[in-house]
Amino acid sequence: MDLEQLIRDVPDFPKPGIVFKDITPLLANAKALSFAADTLAKSIDDDQKIDKVIGIESRGFILGPMIAERLNAGFIPVRKKGKLPFTVVSKTYQLEYGEDTLEIHTDAIQQGDRVLIHDDVLATGGTAQAVCELVNSCGGIIVGCNFIMELSFLNGRAKLPSELKALITY
Ligand code: PRP
Ligand code: MG
Repeated sequence: MDLEQLIRDVPDFPKPGIVFKDITPLLANAKALSFAADTLAKSIDDDQKIDKVIGIESRGFILGPMIAERLNAGFIPVRKKGKLPFTVVSKTYQLEYGEDTLEIHTDAIQQGDRVLIHDDVLATGGTAQAVCELVNSCGGIIVGCNFIMELSFLNGRAKLPSELKALITY
């Protein structure tokens, strides 16, 4: 199924000169939505039991739980600073301009849990790399990272474990 035709280019969003890749037409298409979640779930070999799927706030919360359900795994939200109610582990990371902090509950991952990380877009890789560090510091084992889109010209892949899948690569 051609998912790329369901990604909409929006010029000058969020800032002048940036062409935003909008996934909402893909999400709104029932067949494409289910195909995307199926394909990302199937990118994990059957013998690779996944205990937890992490979705990264906010756009990783859309397909993350769908993938978790397909893999018979639990869903773990990684959230931006100050949003999770219980005790957290935090990781601050660099953005193109400035920095941001992501957090995970201290009891979200058990020692030795096999974890799949999902987000909508891999750009510079800073976000997903920070989540990998959170998982490692909680004693989880990263089985893979997957994305709807990879902006390969930014080479975020170089910051992440080799088991990496994207449905669409630009
Ligand atoms: C966007 C996108 C990824 C991240 C990728 O999220 O959804 O999470 O940037 O960028 P990187 O690979 O360069 O780190 P954003 O922080 O804009 O927040 P949102 O998901 O809440 O819109
Ligand atoms: Mg995001």
